[in-house]
Amino acid sequence: MSSGERLPGGNDGGAVRVGDTVRRVAGAWTPSVHLLLRHLESTGFDRVPRALGLDDQGRETLSYLDGEAIGHRRPWPAWAHSDEALLEVAGWLRDFHTAVASFVPPPGAVWRGGETWRPGLIIGHNDAAPYNAVWSGGRLVGFFDWDFAGPVTPEWDLAFTAFSWVPLHARHVVEAEGFTAFEDRPRRLRIFLDAYGWEGDLGAFVETVRRRVLASVDGIRRAAAAGEPAYRRLIALGADRNLATAVAELDGFPV
Ligand SMILES: Nc1ncnc2c1ncn2[C@@H]1O[C@H](COP(=O)(O)OP(=O)(O)O)[C@@H](O)[C@H]1O
Ligand SMILES: [Mg+2]
Repeated sequence: MSSGERLPGGNDGGAVRVGDTVRRVAGAWTPSVHLLLRHLESTGFDRVPRALGLDDQGRETLSYLDGEAIGHRRPWPAWAHSDEALLEVAGWLRDFHTAVASFVPPPGAVWRGGETWRPGLIIGHNDAAPYNAVWSGGRLVGFFDWDFAGPVTPEWDLAFTAFSWVPLHARHVVEAEGFTAFEDRPRRLRIFLDAYGWEGDLGAFVETVRRRVLASVDGIRRAAAAGEPAYRRLIALGADRNLATAVAELDGFPV
């Protein structure tokens, strides 16, 4: 069988396309991710890749989501920073959280972050950012790259998704991606949270975003120190320092 055509984008193993499927390097967490994707499919939530098992090279096989992904493009395409995207992504996340609420992972399920599920938590996507989205005809088709799925509170997943799409990342990072409407960010955050149906204190939510991003900084540094190549690359690119800058810049965010 052909090894497939490499798709642009990805910071980790990347992905190759074979016909209407995608093949990705499998990990210890892949069986749990496939159970999750099959659960979503069983609820009728179809804005995610379908899990199609492993191929003869041991790679995970998923359905290809047809549309536009950002890949390596800089700046990002305009849809990534549109109000429509905020509404689409918030609606997707709400529907995903509703669908995943009935998913009970089997005992011993392995997640990449190493956490264990318990009642009260969901299995979040944990990386529902523009670089993992497919867009078509003014709509979000869905999110791929479920490698970081794992047990979290819905708010924790919401915090990272808001961080990625409002966006609340460091100014120099989002500028390079084509976003400069900094004074518009409080309005965009409110649109996003309203569309999700989140009711709570905005200041407290921004604090949750900061804690979520600090957890990423910590996770990247720990994994790099443990020798994981993808994380060493992230450190070389300054990803941990950029995230720490974002946290500092969020101090005093006008809510
Ligand atoms: N299910 C999918 N449908 C469509 N495109 C995909 C899918 N999975 C991955 N891709 C494409 O492959 C690229 C890299 O995939 P990704 O899974 O995010 O890799 P990484 O784990 O390295 O971040 C993406 O930028 C996207 O273009
Ligand atoms: Mg990715």
